[in-house]
Amino acid sequence: MSIDTDFPATAKLTYLNAANVALMPRSASDTVEAWQRDIAENGSLNFDEVAEDLVFDEVRGAFARFIGATSTDVAVASSASEFVSSIAWAVMPKAGTRIVTTDIVFPSTSYPWARVARHTGAEMHYVASTDDVVDEDQLIAAIDDRTSVVSISHVEYSTGQRFDLKRISDAAARVGAFFLVDASQSLGAVPLDVSEVAIDALVTTSYKWLCGPFGVGLAYISPRRQQTLDPGITGWRFHSEIYNLQAQRCVYHNDARRFEFSTMAYGCAAALAKSIDYLQEIGVSNIMRRNLALADQLVKGISDLDIHLATPLAPEARSSIVSGKFRHIESKSVVRKLVEKQIFVSPRRDYFRVSPHLYNTPRDIDRLVEELAVIGKAGPRV
Ligand SMILES: Cc1ncc(COP(=O)(O)O)c(C=O)c1O
Repeated sequence: MSIDTDFPATAKLTYLNAANVALMPRSASDTVEAWQRDIAENGSLNFDEVAEDLVFDEVRGAFARFIGATSTDVAVASSASEFVSSIAWAVMPKAGTRIVTTDIVFPSTSYPWARVARHTGAEMHYVASTDDVVDEDQLIAAIDDRTSVVSISHVEYSTGQRFDLKRISDAAARVGAFFLVDASQSLGAVPLDVSEVAIDALVTTSYKWLCGPFGVGLAYISPRRQQTLDPGITGWRFHSEIYNLQAQRCVYHNDARRFEFSTMAYGCAAALAKSIDYLQEIGVSNIMRRNLALADQLVKGISDLDIHLATPLAPEARSSIVSGKFRHIESKSVVRKLVEKQIFVSPRRDYFRVSPHLYNTPRDIDRLVEELAVIGKAGPRV
């Protein structure tokens, strides 16, 4: 295992953009390429019905080990958004009850609930942020007797604010609310073990901190909820024997696999298993420690510049994301200037968002800080 060989792009780019799309280790990109080539050249020769039935076993196993679950408690589809939609229709919160989320949550974590709420007469409650930070106590206070669902991101995509899942799950459990966590901005960079915190459903995308390819979503569904949920999105793989194919009768799995429903980019799922194993071998606590050191280096390095930092710095709210903005320069133009220097970060809301991951080094942060100083000196006309 060598970061330079496994992530060749680090030789040419200062890539600080894992919260958008992370780099993929060689083992994963080789897998997806070989997979597509085999289908292109051989069709179903090496991928028959038996192989298709078992195709998710590897990624289910890798994901389950990664989050402290068993492999029948997890499911595979094409995106995190898909899973939230399917789960929202399955939970179907009743008229008059409330779905609690935040006003800065990534839309995939709120839109599906709002859609179901329009159908049933439930209400959305968006806990208000101040300067793009949510007061966790206010979020907990909003979870009251009327609450049927709490749907949050473990880490907010725009500022990197991390929530204490244990506190929020306790509050949800007190009122019997369904607790959904979108871990797309944390899994792979922040340790998370579903045996230590009561989460009803956890979803994640593939291409961010998990370092996988586009095209895969993963979900964990708690065993105590699995059998009561009738998924909102269905299709031929919904049947527990996928090649049963009877149009009039569907016997679905008694576990989380009932949330699987269709053909997808199977090679991407195989590649994601490699990425997850790669991260597991290094250890997510080690990754987080290193990423936080890089984030700290950045915060210190820009402290003399005219930058407003949006990211909360309390240790319990930290993640690998640092977002900020110059007071007099638009963040979009900052990001454009950085790209000209082969430094990659993202514009999100009003901020430039920096998201270092396991393949970054202190030298990458030095380069970014040097360029931000140049941009800051040149002022708004850059
Ligand atoms: C918190 C969060 N959830 C979900 C997504 C999107 O996931 P997907 O593309 O798999 O639907 C994003 C993308 O930025 C995100 O930040």
